[in-house]
Amino acid sequence: MITSVELRQKFLDFFVAKGHKIIPSASLIPENDPTVLFTTAGMHPLVPYLLGEPHPEGDRLVNTQKCVRTNDIDEVGDDCHGTFFEMLGNWSLGDYWKKESIAWSWEFLTSPAWLNLDPKKISVTVFAGDGDAPRDDESAQAWKELGLPESKIAYLPKADNWWSPAGQTGPCGPDTEIFWWKGEGAHPPESSNPANDSKNWLEIWNNVFMQYNKNAAGKFEPLKQKNVDTGMGLERTLVTLNGFKDVYQVDTLWPIIKKIQDVSGREYVESAETVRSMRIIADHLRAATMIMGDDKGIAPSNVDQGYVVRRLIRRAVRHGRLLGIRENFCSKIAEEVIKIFKAIYPEALRNREFILNEIAAEESKFRNTIEQGLKEFEKLLDGFRIALEKTGERVTEISGKQAFKLYESYGFPLEMTLELANENGLSVEVEGFEHAFRAHQDLSRAGAEQKFKGGLADSGEMSVKYHTATHLLHAALRAVLGEHVAQRGSNITAERLRFDFSHPEKMTDEQKSRVEELVNYAIKRDYPVSFAGTTVVEAKAGGAMGLFEDKYGAKVKVYSVGDPNEAPEARENSLAFSKEICGGPHVANTAVLGKFKIIKEEAVSAGVRRIKATLS
Ligand code: ALA
Repeated sequence: MITSVELRQKFLDFFVAKGHKIIPSASLIPENDPTVLFTTAGMHPLVPYLLGEPHPEGDRLVNTQKCVRTNDIDEVGDDCHGTFFEMLGNWSLGDYWKKESIAWSWEFLTSPAWLNLDPKKISVTVFAGDGDAPRDDESAQAWKELGLPESKIAYLPKADNWWSPAGQTGPCGPDTEIFWWKGEGAHPPESSNPANDSKNWLEIWNNVFMQYNKNAAGKFEPLKQKNVDTGMGLERTLVTLNGFKDVYQVDTLWPIIKKIQDVSGREYVESAETVRSMRIIADHLRAATMIMGDDKGIAPSNVDQGYVVRRLIRRAVRHGRLLGIRENFCSKIAEEVIKIFKAIYPEALRNREFILNEIAAEESKFRNTIEQGLKEFEKLLDGFRIALEKTGERVTEISGKQAFKLYESYGFPLEMTLELANENGLSVEVEGFEHAFRAHQDLSRAGAEQKFKGGLADSGEMSVKYHTATHLLHAALRAVLGEHVAQRGSNITAERLRFDFSHPEKMTDEQKSRVEELVNYAIKRDYPVSFAGTTVVEAKAGGAMGLFEDKYGAKVKVYSVGDPNEAPEARENSLAFSKEICGGPHVANTAVLGKFKIIKEEAVSAGVRRIKATLS
């Protein structure tokens, strides 16, 4: 058995022996970086040094970094997803390069003096190459020289083996990822690797080779200084080393589960429901405690990081209630979290009083209304049942107004209403909620416009193409799945588009192919893309999609793709053209988009799906 304390120490010792200097974990709240709410990797705070600024500690660095990622928050409760986690990382700032980095990772993992992992259970992925950068043969060669067989080296495209910070521009490059065999049997089959057998391999370490700087125009310029940025997941590596089944067995989570058993008087293993609720409470209160304990005075609120903390605490309270806990308990769990981390992250101890007070205040505030809110929710369900009996009409959606009432009167974050709706086979009219929310907030136009800019990181050529493709995708989804599909979010990089939309269930393979066909059809027809200036009211009357009306001034642009006069028969097969309120920019004609392909379709939260797609 190896503990988290031992693993952190071994990692630091190993890299110190290789000439690295230990730097402290940076804050979870990024400094001077408006593009992300939280530090999601050890490299974030190092960006200036990766771009050439000399680091006071030299050009070889190592640390343990606290990280928060909220993109998988709805998966929390399963075996491996979490919001807060720790990343072990080492960096070369223009010093050593691929060969040394790979050889040291291998030595650390497999040497009997260090982690002593069985080399036969390790495989790697390497960047396959594309128009921007060649195949990473240098990394592949380094692996082969260490004795890794060819069958254990998989070559994958940018979507898998390329790393850039969340801000989209900045230092980036190909990576090589190291995986551990978690399948049945003593060893993996000869041919098995993460590309052809991904479910049996767990990624434990990522070595990024930052050779490029992606500029605002989406171009990859070679970096003057070549850097190495690696990240090893602490919890996952402890799972690997100790043969655990899930991350909650790790000693930075297990004492929290034990504490939840104590305060609830329930057994963790009682049922699948108790396991899930205890895991959600443990993960969420661990994250909330660490965010509040970070010297930045982040308290629960309705904006930015504070809103995330509020969501985490309120969801934990609801799951505590499912376990039968009726008294305030969150600060007891927070105490346990502080105990676990106080030696390694002393700031958590320093901020103990603040954390315990804020968490208790938030819990009390929410407890005052949660019972009434849940009663209100039950009333809604009763109303739907009665309507079904009386009129035979089945209501499957909670209106935006109802969801907003749960938020405003009872403090239910939208995500909680979505979760409750999902548990009862219902969806939520998110668009209506957002409308009511914005009307209530009376957001200043300037502030709102600032936020909206976030969707499109830069106006590089590829980004513009993806932006137009997003409009086609939106229209195609509505054509295939129905008019209930509405945009929830969009994020574009030069490599892919990511589009979040309201839809209650997983898309079938047929639906995905049909959407691809429609988009590719519209591309082939080489439709012109045009825009006209108008007012929100007129745009809506003309059938334009656009969900963020008060984010725009009275005058808006409506982008149209396709020919509105196209014969109806032809339209049957096409997108009938897309019309959307939007700030642009877009391509002039669709043929330049190339081939559109859906790479992934997945849940983001209850009632919201996410598509990642590429153009090639
Ligand atoms: N920055 C790299 C990652 O987060 C190491 O995977």
